[in-house]
Amino acid sequence: MVNVPLFSSFNIKSKILRNRIVLSPMCQYKAKDGKIDEWHLQHYSRFAFSGLGAAFIEATGVSPEGRIGHGCTGIWSDDHVDGLSKIAKVFKEYNCVSGIQLAHAGRKASFLRPWDGASPIIKDDGIEPAWQTIGPSAIPINEKSPVPKEMTLDDIVKVRNEFKEGAQRADKAGFDIIEIHGAHGYLLHSFFSPISNKRNDQYGGSFENRIRFALEIIADIKSVWPDNKPIFYRLSSIDAPGEGATLEDNVKLAKALKLAGIDVIDCSSGGITGSPVLTKSKIIPGFQVPYSEKIKKDAEISSMAVGAIISANQANDIIANNRADLVAMGRELLADTQWVYKAATHFNLENAKDYLPDSYSFYLSRRDEFLDRAAKPA
Ligand SMILES: Cc1cc2nc3c(=O)[nH]c(=O)nc-3n(C[C@H](O)[C@H](O)[C@H](O)COP(=O)(O)O)c2cc1C
Repeated sequence: MVNVPLFSSFNIKSKILRNRIVLSPMCQYKAKDGKIDEWHLQHYSRFAFSGLGAAFIEATGVSPEGRIGHGCTGIWSDDHVDGLSKIAKVFKEYNCVSGIQLAHAGRKASFLRPWDGASPIIKDDGIEPAWQTIGPSAIPINEKSPVPKEMTLDDIVKVRNEFKEGAQRADKAGFDIIEIHGAHGYLLHSFFSPISNKRNDQYGGSFENRIRFALEIIADIKSVWPDNKPIFYRLSSIDAPGEGATLEDNVKLAKALKLAGIDVIDCSSGGITGSPVLTKSKIIPGFQVPYSEKIKKDAEISSMAVGAIISANQANDIIANNRADLVAMGRELLADTQWVYKAATHFNLENAKDYLPDSYSFYLSRRDEFLDRAAKPA
């Protein structure tokens, strides 16, 4: 059997990922009132059949106000559990560990869908109205954005409770992993970043104060989330080159998250200023891998690399060289849901067909034989 680190299994708490390849959370903007519909089932089923080690469903709002926009999935009501459980079930059926990202968009909520401009909803059409956003301080993202309401201590308690209830419902729906969204300028990141947090109370100022809210949310989640199920935390490894929270600050954050009981750090970047997702760093393949490598090594915690991971060799090198424990992929998997099978074939794995559903692999085995015969001279 060929030894390919990308295809080695990864054990975390009671979960075993059959390989190191993970679907990164990706908003679909197709939900109504936060509810999963036919689109989500079909979309996520494609990934359930994809041979992935694990898959995360998109940023799912712990409250209506915590959604990025009207199309986001939600987990603030028991009515959401049934739809979500259908997705968790299809992942389980095809041996893909199931994850859900719990999110509150904070001052970056009330946004238009990307194809409508990915900017704050300003023009209230009465059908998809804007809503009052919240944040650590009354500081807008930029001069064109609405000013968020500075959260009171009561608001903080309310949001803590929303995350806790969200975690309870995620468990009830059957998910194996929760990922807390602490990146991209959304609520938890906005408490951590000195750019957006100018509070004078116990939630602002010092490093310890700026991570307090996140640590409280983790403790709340852990009080209801089974001990044998992992919790991931997505952070923005740097705010932007030369601005805000640095990589060293995030190593310190990762150490605190590890102590709080986080199992894996998902290393993204940016979002406090500028683009909703990306840093102002130059984008090259694997541009965020130096972050997962540093956080893994210095904070001594498992890490997941993400961002422009494209080829099988690139992904395998990241794992083989200990630069991350897992690779998360977004757009490349959207473009090619059979990426895992093709990568297994690329590495000549004898069990490559195990990464396909039976109905596909049966016919593909026969196809190989057929192509062999066809290649022989008559
Ligand atoms: C359509 C789309 C939706 C996304 N939605 C989310 C999301 O819900 N939560 C999140 O943390 N990141 C989100 N992202 C960022 C991705 O998870 C990923 O970090 C980013 O696309 C970089 O990986 P890639 O180069 O493999 O696509 C989204 C990206 C895309 C393209």
